[in-house]
Order: sequence, then structure tokens, then C-alpha cells
Amino acid sequence: VQQRSTMTRVDRRVLIGSLNDAHAMEARSLTVLRREATDPQQRVDVRARLESHLHETVQHAERLRQALHALGTVPTAVGSHAEPVMVLATDITGRVFSDPLVRKVIAALAAKQFEVAAYTALIAAAEYVGEAEVARLCRLNRGEDEDMAEWLDAQIPITLGHTLGRIVR
Ligand SMILES: [Fe+2]
Repeated sequence: VQQRSTMTRVDRRVLIGSLNDAHAMEARSLTVLRREATDPQQRVDVRARLESHLHETVQHAERLRQALHALGTVPTAVGSHAEPVMVLATDITGRVFSDPLVRKVIAALAAKQFEVAAYTALIAAAEYVGEAEVARLCRLNRGEDEDMAEWLDAQIPITLGHTLGRIVR
């Protein structure tokens, strides 16, 4: 792939727009994580993992702020409305799966995979325009979101095991 090393105004607008989208996505998913991580209904190990991902997510938003800073700008203000990917994922899984617990973990996994995909796009965009630092910061976020997606995937059989009474707490 032939890469250009200088950023045009269009490149800059696209990159800044995508970084802002990712920043809003991370900031809004904090609301969901705060609620889930403190929910007494959750198993203790689940709460611990959600808590650690909450700290990672704070870092993700901070890295995106740094990436925007490197481009000479700051994140645009994030509204208080719910994370749209999570809202859609919850709606879709609700139409497909009837078990509420399994449905919830599938929706969480789908939303996390959206985040991973958003970073794949951001990393590619940053690399095309030669913004190595932006790409590096996004790669750190992508790695942790991928780990979280893997953990959520592993939660599906465990959740199902609890639902079917095959795993006793
Ligand atoms: Fe993230």
C-alpha cells in the first residue's frame, strides 16, 4: 500500500472526527460500566473484571484526548445520552434471544466488538496519514478492548451454565 506522509485538510478532518467519535463512545460506555460494576446482582469475579475495565476505559478516553491534543485540538463535549451501540445491541439481542442473562452478555460482547472495529479503522487512518503517535495510542486501546471482548466471549458459556443450573456458585 502506497502511503502518503503529509496530512491534507481532509485527512485531518476525518482523523479528528473519528477520534472524537471514539472518545464519545468510550466516555458513554463509562456510564454503563459504572452501573454494571456496582450492581450487587453481578457475581464477584464479574464485578472485579468490570471494575478493572472501567479503569482501562478511563485511560482509553484519556489516550484519545492525548491523540486529539497531538493534532492540536480537544475532544468535543459528550452528551449524557446512552451509548448508541449498546442501545442498539441490547435491542437486537432482545429480539433474538429470550434468556435475559445470556442476552445481556451477548449485547455487551457485540458493543465491545464495535469498539475494537472502530480502533481498527482509526489505526489504519492514522497510519495512512503518518500519525504514528495517534496510531500507537489507538493500538493500546484496541488491545485492551480486544482482551475485554475475549473475556465477554468466555462469559457466554459460564452465564449459560448458571442459567441452566449446571454451574453452582
Ligand atoms: Fe475502550
